[in-house]
Amino acid sequence: MAHRWTNTLTHADVTPKAHWLNRRQIIAAGGVLPFAGMAKAETGDLEPNSWDDITSYNNYYEFGTGKSDPSKNAGDLVTSPWSIKVDGLVDNPGDYTIDDLIGGLTLEERIYRFRCVEAWSMVVPWNGVELADVLARVGVKPEARYVAFETVLQPEVMPGVRHRVIPFPYVEGLRLDEANHPLALLATGIYGRPLANQSGAPIRVVVPWKYGFKSIKAIVRISLVAEMPPTTWNNLNSREYGFYSNVNPQVSHPRWSQATERRIGGGLFARQQDTLMFNGYDEVASLYDGMDLRVNY
Ligand code: MTE
Repeated sequence: MAHRWTNTLTHADVTPKAHWLNRRQIIAAGGVLPFAGMAKAETGDLEPNSWDDITSYNNYYEFGTGKSDPSKNAGDLVTSPWSIKVDGLVDNPGDYTIDDLIGGLTLEERIYRFRCVEAWSMVVPWNGVELADVLARVGVKPEARYVAFETVLQPEVMPGVRHRVIPFPYVEGLRLDEANHPLALLATGIYGRPLANQSGAPIRVVVPWKYGFKSIKAIVRISLVAEMPPTTWNNLNSREYGFYSNVNPQVSHPRWSQATERRIGGGLFARQQDTLMFNGYDEVASLYDGMDLRVNY
């Protein structure tokens, strides 16, 4: 009932001015529109999933391993006050509030495909800032080559942590040039509303050309480092989950194909749809020039 209004929203309703402004600025600057998802959305073939879909089918192992566990269990997560430690190879290390970290930066809506390594997908209208803008604010030192992220740990409200379903805190990482790509986002909202706890409140990473597990939730630490940082799923099983984890229909997971995916919300008889290289975000391809993506999976 509470979320009913989202079903009747149109793009015009949910798209803040900043989105259009940003688009216009890019076009005015003579650049190619870099956000394939946004361009496609406007032609209608990237219809966002409903708020209900997005907030009831989740992966967030701190709250359990079932898809509905996060929506049932994440209600008691304390998301305010919130502090994010920025450390490592930065000019301005310290403990940042969310406002210190993103206040004054351009808040945008980005309608992105979201593709989980488990071969399901959604389309999510995120609100957030470019990760690159935040990295510029904290001042990355020249020796830094990777960014490492860490999720909050609140065992008292996280049943999955108490049951040690996997090692916590959840950690993830990106190469610095990936993190600086304009598609990489720090999201604080969906559909113009603050993130639901199960969606990674109050602030999470969104990297739309990579499998969803790279998009780490509820971040409390951003570290700039010289060496490739450890990441949760790679630590658990490096044969199944690589550091890069770019969406790639040609590289199967050892236990299932990645050639197709099931769109959440498509109904019981929805056809599998073809998975797109880089989840459709071809503009990131040059980040991987000269790399064998079968080896660096
Ligand atoms: N972040 C944390 N802290 N814990 C998790 O278990 N799961 C990852 C990622 N980020 C996860 C996480 C996985 S596997 C996916 S597919 C996405 O979050 C799911 O995001 P969603 O629930 O918002 O769709």
